[in-house]
Amino acid sequence: MASYMTSACYIIVLGISVVGLKGAEAQRAFFVFGDSLVDNGNNDFLATTARADAPPYGIDYPTRTATGRFSNGYNIPDFISQAIGAAESTLPYLDPQLNGERLLVGANFASAGIGILNDTGIQFVNIIRIYRQLQYWEEYQQRVSALIGPEQTERLINGALVLITLGGNDFVNNYYLVPYSARSRQYNLPNYVKYIISEYKKILRRLYEIGARRVLVTGTGPLGCVPAELAQRSTNGECSAELQRAASLFNPQLVQIIKELNSEIGSDVFVGVNTQQMHIDFINNPQQYGFITSKVACCGQGPYNGIGLCTVASNLCPNRDVYAFWDAFHPSERACSLIARQILSGTSEYMYPMNLSTILALDSKKN
Ligand SMILES: *[C@@H]1O[C@H](CO)[C@@H](O)[C@H](O)[C@H]1NC(C)=O
Ligand SMILES: *[C@@H]1O[C@H](CO)[C@@H](O)[C@H](O)[C@H]1NC(C)=O
Repeated sequence: MASYMTSACYIIVLGISVVGLKGAEAQRAFFVFGDSLVDNGNNDFLATTARADAPPYGIDYPTRTATGRFSNGYNIPDFISQAIGAAESTLPYLDPQLNGERLLVGANFASAGIGILNDTGIQFVNIIRIYRQLQYWEEYQQRVSALIGPEQTERLINGALVLITLGGNDFVNNYYLVPYSARSRQYNLPNYVKYIISEYKKILRRLYEIGARRVLVTGTGPLGCVPAELAQRSTNGECSAELQRAASLFNPQLVQIIKELNSEIGSDVFVGVNTQQMHIDFINNPQQYGFITSKVACCGQGPYNGIGLCTVASNLCPNRDVYAFWDAFHPSERACSLIARQILSGTSEYMYPMNLSTILALDSKKN
């Protein structure tokens, strides 16, 4: 809370316009878009089944309560907030507590179940699809503008760090949802990937148009290796070849559109995060990262604890820190912290064209 108190003092001493300037400079705002890997509670405010609002979710969170994060504790955005020196995590955009000075910290617009395509996650009914998330960001900008004026708002938005995580659900909650989904009848896998990548490019372009200047874009993890797929599709605990093929088609094409967009814009606005490689490291050598398993989820039931939802009735591992997966689809808090560490200081194998510490160093020189 310290920096809010500092800002409050400026209100008294120097007047509102200076507050905005100090607020924007002292602390870089952070905005998050995407799906359940980065949702921190928006879905708790919606009528949907895609929610992490009950124990044992949040069992290791500081408050020991379910927050809407699909994790036992913090998720990746929380660790990124910490890495950029934010006083606290961003609030979910739908949280009524997100107003006044707190808006200047940023906001999280993510919603579990969504994808690149509007028809991804339709079974979850009432979720915030990506174009709606972008509209909410524009609405947010108007609210901040009323608070600190249009010029300071533009500074805050252009100076912000943005994270977007999309794509996994376009496979697991769309193309592969039922054996003959509409999309899988319409497209073979390579053409489907081409299609969703071309749609993703439009979304990224739109993010730039409405003000984003530094955007971390995560690829999908190794989709075929999550406990849910091991339980449903694999033989002998090997990663599902079909979903691995999907991830290995998607991720390189994502890096390709990042290159194209950056060269169109003439600046490294978009930064690719190779979450596939980060996860594969855990999967190939869990012990090296302090995990006893990267196959069995900590919370769940059935083979690999990969069937159904994580609920109070599920198996629950005693030490969450030694599991790479918290539930059938989502990394544990400790896995999230390791991924965030790679985002911050990973080599070019993990971060294209540069890591977050390089971004922070470059951008601090600009101001
Ligand atoms: C998804 O919906 C948005 C509006 O909500 C629209 O602009 C966009 O074109 C749609 N995408 C596709 C692929 O239909
Ligand atoms: C990433 O960040 C670290 C600083 O933590 C830096 O030393 C390193 O050179 C960077 N790696 C690349 C490939 O940019």
